[in-house]
Amino acid sequence: MKILFARDYQDMSRKAANILSAQVILNTKSVVGLATGSTPTGVYKQLIEWYEKGDIDFSKIKSVNLDEYCGIKADSDQSYYYYMYENFFKHININLKNTYIPDGMEKDAQLECKRYNNIIKQLGGIDIQLLGIGHNGHIGFNEPNEAFEKETHCVKLDDKTIEANARFFDSKEEVPTHAYTMGIKSIMQAKKILLLASGEGKSKILYDSLFGPITPGVPASILQLHNDLTVVADEGALSEIM
Ligand code: F6R
Repeated sequence: MKILFARDYQDMSRKAANILSAQVILNTKSVVGLATGSTPTGVYKQLIEWYEKGDIDFSKIKSVNLDEYCGIKADSDQSYYYYMYENFFKHININLKNTYIPDGMEKDAQLECKRYNNIIKQLGGIDIQLLGIGHNGHIGFNEPNEAFEKETHCVKLDDKTIEANARFFDSKEEVPTHAYTMGIKSIMQAKKILLLASGEGKSKILYDSLFGPITPGVPASILQLHNDLTVVADEGALSEIM
């Protein structure tokens, strides 16, 4: 595991963008696993800036997102599809046909999970997976549980997650109760993992995840077993570690 210290959110974003752009420059056909939420928005902004300068070409990459809320239409401004389109895809030359996100409107969970697992397999796996971390240690929407869920599944969101994500909705009651998420096996099979954390609020869970026992009670703790994990975290998030 490599832990890179970043001075602040911007420094974290730039360092992470550097790692992702190196991946895309070295392998123009990379399969890039993407995340949503507040943490990676600065990374996407930086990548857009470099794209506009002509430094990166996204035309041949494929992207596969971690998760999507159930019951939210892709064109609603709360969907993760909308987030990805607005914050990244519409600004770069990625082929939208090569971007994959679970379909939150598919009511048949078994069908959707199978479809998404097949997509990941057909892409040949993920070259680099970008991750944020939830306050409860979730990665994707793999919530603390009694066992690690292997592949794409429909998850009941934890109260903590619903509370944390209520900031993107008018009220807590409007946050979907369920989501589709890539499983732990799919994440762990990514060739490289890039975990980001920013702010003091993430410091305890980051410490527990990286140095505590490996347990499904702290889903991110499984990342300790990955042999190419890079953590980029800012001073606040690293305050329990350094
Ligand atoms: C988002 C995702 C989540 C977030 C996590 C942290 O696609 O999979 O695991 O990374 O909830 O969210 P932020 O970055 O908003 O603190």
